[in-house]
Amino acid sequence: MRNVVVTGGTRGLGIAIARKLAADGYRAIAVARQQNDHFAACVQQAEATAPGSLRFAAFDLNDIAFIPKFVASLSEEFGPLHGLVNNAGLGTSGILATLADPQIERLLRLNVTSPITLTKYAVRAMMVGGAGGRIVNISSVVASTGYSGLSVYAASKAALAGFTRSLAREIGPLGITVNCVAPGFVDTDMTGGMKPAQRAQIIRRSALRRLPDAKDVAAAVAFLVSDAAGNVTGTTVTVDAGNTA
Ligand SMILES: NC(=O)c1ccc[n+]([C@@H]2O[C@H](COP(=O)([O-])OP(=O)(O)OC[C@H]3O[C@@H](n4cnc5c(N)ncnc54)[C@H](OP(=O)(O)O)[C@@H]3O)[C@@H](O)[C@H]2O)c1
Repeated sequence: MRNVVVTGGTRGLGIAIARKLAADGYRAIAVARQQNDHFAACVQQAEATAPGSLRFAAFDLNDIAFIPKFVASLSEEFGPLHGLVNNAGLGTSGILATLADPQIERLLRLNVTSPITLTKYAVRAMMVGGAGGRIVNISSVVASTGYSGLSVYAASKAALAGFTRSLAREIGPLGITVNCVAPGFVDTDMTGGMKPAQRAQIIRRSALRRLPDAKDVAAAVAFLVSDAAGNVTGTTVTVDAGNTA
């Protein structure tokens, strides 16, 4: 089984991505601070059909200094790394003028510094393997549109898009692809605080008059991780039911 690490793979978009990859024949290694009952049930289900296809690795991605050791421990436990999906993120919202400085730092740490550092060590592991690899960064449509109250979040997601394009050029010669998926609004724990009127407005303004769901995002990620996407790199796949069309 080829190993794909999915950060934040225990809830929301991440668990949908991890389950889809497990169903597609990979070993999906979900990284989060803790497991939860729904994730445990998904592991049980996966065990019944494809033993070992959905695993958990506990790690707090804010602990940047421990990332090298964490990646080494993953290689030791599971073997060579085929893919990394940088999905974990914070969705802190708030008017910039009143956002507390530590909140800004926490958001940029988890959404930008952590995935960049994790990618650095994952790429090193892929280089040792010599079989190429796949990096998928979960950005957002907000990286390229505007949404009042999400300026810092938007900055973090635009950072991932810029990171993706330059890194794709840098490690393309090694056979490693780097892409982004930019979801529109999806119902998850992160977006639970959105007011019904705002949610309804997003639906009204979307070409398909609906929201994408986590499975739609997972399908896009699975394509980018697959062999079929071997010649796709440095780009962003938008999954937003036409909200930004
Ligand atoms: N939902 C949307 O509408 C939407 C739209 C566009 C983009 N996105 C992006 O998609 C990604 C996933 O969003 P989501 O809505 O699925 O989020 P979510 O429901 O809040 O899930 C976040 C996941 O990240 C993990 N996580 C959080 N902090 C962590 C840490 N310090 N270390 C390790 N793991 C951590 C959580 O597990 P623990 O808390 O147990 O650690 C959980 O598994 C994010 O990058 C988000 O910005 C979401």
